[in-house]
Amino acid sequence: MADTHHDLLQRPLPDGAVPAEEVARTEKRWLTLMVAMLSVMMAVVVATGMTNAIHPPSNVETIDPTTLHLSGEFAESNLGTAQESDGSLTARLIADQYAFVPDCVMLAVYTPVKFRLTSTDVVHGFLLPATNVNTMVVPGFVSEVRTRFTRPGIYRMPCNEFCGPGHHGMWARVKVVPKEQFQAMAPMERSSCVQR
Ligand code: CUA
Repeated sequence: MADTHHDLLQRPLPDGAVPAEEVARTEKRWLTLMVAMLSVMMAVVVATGMTNAIHPPSNVETIDPTTLHLSGEFAESNLGTAQESDGSLTARLIADQYAFVPDCVMLAVYTPVKFRLTSTDVVHGFLLPATNVNTMVVPGFVSEVRTRFTRPGIYRMPCNEFCGPGHHGMWARVKVVPKEQFQAMAPMERSSCVQR
C-alpha cells in the first residue's frame, strides 16, 4: 500500500507508540514527584541544621603556622582545657602529622565548650561522633567549634581528613566528666587527661 501521508509529522503513530499527550502527562507527574522529594530533603537539612546546631565552620581567623608554638594561645603551656571567667571551657589543640596535642582533653558535662584548633603542617579533620563537632583544621587558620556535652563519657575524635600515610592512626579522646568532679580537680588535671 502506498504511503498517502506526504507530511511525515501527520503520519499516524505505529502500533505500540505512546501518544505525545500521555508522555507529557507522565513527565509532569515525575517532575512533581522530584520537586516534592527535593523539598522534603531540603526541609530535613534546614530542620536538622537548626535543631542540632549543625552549620558550616565560619570562623575566619588567621595564624602563622611557623611560629604558633613560640608564644600566644597555642604555646605548649596553653594547650588543653582552660576555664573562662563565665564558667565556660575553652579547649585548645594543635593537629600535626599524626597526632593531636594534647591527645586527651578533659571537659565537664552541661557546660558550654569552645574548641580552638590549628594545624602546623597539612589539612586535618576534627570530628566528635554524635555531636555537632566536625571541622577541617587548616594550617594558617584557627578553627573554632562550640558545643555542649549532655552525657559524660569518653568520646573518640578521629582525624577525618586524609593527611598522609599515618592518617588512620591519628585520633585523640575527649573525656567528659560530671561538673562536680571537674571542679574538684587540680588545674593540671583539668587541662588534659594525657597519661603522665
Ligand atoms: Cu590528620 Cu588525617
